[in-house]
Amino acid sequence: MQTVRSSEELARARAQITGVLALVPTMGALHAGHMALIEEAKRRADAVAATIFVNPTQFNDKDDLARYPRQEADDARKLEQAGCDLLWVPSVGDIYPQGFSTSVQMSGIADRWEGEHRPGHFDGVATIVAKLLLAVRPDVALFGEKDFQQLAVIRRMVADLSIAAEVVGVPTVREPDGLALSSRNALLSPDERSRAVALPRALEAARDAVLDGVDVGGVLGEAQDSLLEAGFSRVDYFALVDAATLEPIDRPSGEMRLIAAAVIGNTRLIDNVQI
Ligand code: PAJ
Repeated sequence: MQTVRSSEELARARAQITGVLALVPTMGALHAGHMALIEEAKRRADAVAATIFVNPTQFNDKDDLARYPRQEADDARKLEQAGCDLLWVPSVGDIYPQGFSTSVQMSGIADRWEGEHRPGHFDGVATIVAKLLLAVRPDVALFGEKDFQQLAVIRRMVADLSIAAEVVGVPTVREPDGLALSSRNALLSPDERSRAVALPRALEAARDAVLDGVDVGGVLGEAQDSLLEAGFSRVDYFALVDAATLEPIDRPSGEMRLIAAAVIGNTRLIDNVQI
């Protein structure tokens, strides 16, 4: 695996790659969820590139950015073992040069849920992902369904900006007890970690209840209560949405998704399940 840092080095490495190229953008602290994206990338492409960049503009909370886990040497080893061909680790100055004044502003699909609770977050995500796609020019780019709204926002941005990359979503990888793998799980105390499983359990229970025809409003209310009872301090949202538009729905129809965000201790977790 070749590791590059500056955009000049990246451009030289990119020019050497022939055939189908897949890109897996990450913020590092890699776990089996990220590695599932690399594996799917390998199945779909001749060469796989990954990026590690803790993107400051998508953090609406300074403490969250400061606390974000960083372990580049470990990450590089994992990527190399998984058969990744190229790793780009840009610097903040390279991505956001002095005087940086251009950004991708998202509305519509980005307005609710994460967009409402993390102002500016999706503009930061859309801007960095657009920059990574323009610099690497992959044929395929892979993102996790774990961040379901992010995947939808990126699909929208890529279509709207006519970027010639196929966006592929990869199913969520979970711990044996059901908790979705996340770099933020490392921030949970042992007690919080054992309570956090209430989030996927509430999603599964709500999915079953919706499929059984129970009233949606009641299902969502009960799910929120169960999280607070389990020790979450705040539920930002727990919603049944149309899987394509992310608009809330009050009775089952078509492709649906249950999406949720809740805080335990100092850590905000998000998760979702397909219905
Ligand atoms: P990060 O949180 O590092 O996640 C990188 C990719 O891994 C995202 O596409 C995310 O959805 C996926 N992922 C995370 N946990 C997963 C899991 N348990 N199962 C499957 N996929 C999982 O998401 C970001 O970084 C950033 O916003 C980024 C897109 C890199 C832009 O900065």
